[in-house]
Amino acid sequence: MGQKIIKIKSKPSNNNETYDFNKLCNTIKQWIIRNSLSNVFFVTIRSIKRYPLILNLIKETSSVHFTNFTPNPTFEEVMEGYRIFKEKKCDAIIAIGGGSAIDVAKCIKFYNLKNDFVPLLVIPTTAGTGSEATKFAVMYKEGVKISIEDEHCLPDAVMFDYHFLETLPLYQKKVTLMDAFCHGLESFWSVNSTRESRCYSKGVLENILENVDEYLKLNNEAEVYKKIFEASFFAGKAINIAKTTAGHAMCYKITSMYGLAHGHAAILCNKIIFRWMIENIEQLDCIDSRGRKYVEDVLKEIAYIFGTENLIEACDRLDMFVDKLELEVPCASDKEIEELVLSVNEQRMKNHPFLISEKNIDTLYKKILNYDIIS
Ligand SMILES: [Fe+2]
Repeated sequence: MGQKIIKIKSKPSNNNETYDFNKLCNTIKQWIIRNSLSNVFFVTIRSIKRYPLILNLIKETSSVHFTNFTPNPTFEEVMEGYRIFKEKKCDAIIAIGGGSAIDVAKCIKFYNLKNDFVPLLVIPTTAGTGSEATKFAVMYKEGVKISIEDEHCLPDAVMFDYHFLETLPLYQKKVTLMDAFCHGLESFWSVNSTRESRCYSKGVLENILENVDEYLKLNNEAEVYKKIFEASFFAGKAINIAKTTAGHAMCYKITSMYGLAHGHAAILCNKIIFRWMIENIEQLDCIDSRGRKYVEDVLKEIAYIFGTENLIEACDRLDMFVDKLELEVPCASDKEIEELVLSVNEQRMKNHPFLISEKNIDTLYKKILNYDIIS
């Protein structure tokens, strides 16, 4: 199933005026006309009201504007969206927002599969989750994560307007970028990686390392935003094939326990996991069917992308890269460590190239979080 990718080509906005997204609105209208749609179901973040032209477009082309979902969308919220979609007899979904809005849209489409084909257009407003490039969607039922994997969840069309990135707060920029970076890293060493996915992963890491400093400055060139959208998209394509590994398996509970953003928790985990793999590489049980030598070569390739001569230097480089972002590291008690160890997603752990025992997970969490300080 192919995806139509549309990059909105617009002039850089003048700092004194708010960009109005006129070009994006026209392109969305064209998509609606081309697909002969009469009643689109819009799923957007609430803050979309900051952009009057987009709001007008929604009013003009749709009877439903659904914003009633939380950052970690629940099953109940998705079901409510699905119910309204059916009741209003909508014929397509357009999602404008970050990972949550896109996930809600994918889930509603998924529950509609038995009825009709519902075209899905997504317009990401952050660069990081890569959800626009994957067949996965996530929601929560009574605090438990439900993952959907279905080819139909892959959006039919994606529109990128880099102007959305201009207004992202710095913390948001950092953590969403780190999500994409972790997707690049984890898909690279995943047991499911292919030649194609590794090619995406490599490009993602190179792109982010090259553009991170510029992206985190206050005023960016349009070119930098475009590159970062690209990194996020290709990181999504990489995990769509290879999936994520230990970093993502271990980060979810940190997110809810300490209220950290997903990308924040993911990079704290991967920084430690990367060093731990390299320092223990001889003793670890390799579970990638391509063998230990193959995994070592992948890690060496990552070291090379980091611009270092050997694996230990690559760990130092990753530490420096992460420390520079000045992301908070929460303190963990014994009880919290115990709870974290029990929370780990076993399925994702199976994608990791080395076997990680429960004892290893305990050790890793104690290194990832500030454990020594309070114990
Ligand atoms: Fe992620």
